[in-house]
Amino acid sequence: MLNNNQYGKVKESLAERYLSDSYLVKFSVLSRKEIRVYTKVLIQIVVLLMFILSVACTENEQQISFSKDVMPIFVEHCTQCHNEGGVGHNESGFLMKDYDSIMQGTKLGPVIQAGQSHASTLQILVEHKADTSINMPKGGIKLPKDKIEIIKKWIDQGAKNN
Ligand code: HEC
Repeated sequence: MLNNNQYGKVKESLAERYLSDSYLVKFSVLSRKEIRVYTKVLIQIVVLLMFILSVACTENEQQISFSKDVMPIFVEHCTQCHNEGGVGHNESGFLMKDYDSIMQGTKLGPVIQAGQSHASTLQILVEHKADTSINMPKGGIKLPKDKIEIIKKWIDQGAKNN
């Protein structure tokens, strides 16, 4: 028979043995090595999925609509000066009433080169890449980035009347 003191000591040593790390690893379903291998595989799968997702996203590039996406931006930021008789129309001849007038451009010619935003005067002006005195909206603040991006994509997608 163990006395109380001895019994306590046995209990302590058992607890030490069974609750230690190595005990947990030894009796868990996976070994340390397996856990490492599975973690590696899991990370590789996640990286692969992210790659597939990013490719899928670029292939499905958003199609911009002139009437739904672009014209509302022009109406909000441009037509107050580029309507008939407005200061922008009077000085440059650039009317922004509808698709046809926008594609016609100024007295000197088109300001949009379909498919080539970098060569389009309109894009250069809204990106504030020209002289401050002629950037658009004239005398106003630059358009928010997302709106500039919509106009750019629309031009690069062919500046269609869609
Ligand atoms: C506050 C009035 C005003 C607003 C708003 C405005 N414009 Fe203009 N815009 C002008 C004036 C005035 C001109 C004539 C040229 C000049 O003075 O710079 C002009 C000229 C232009 C030209 C012709 C530049 C050239 O080659 O001669 C383009 C393109 C143009 N604007 C685009 C836009 C676009 C796009 C917007 C909206 C994002 C816009 N404008 C908003 C006043 C305005």
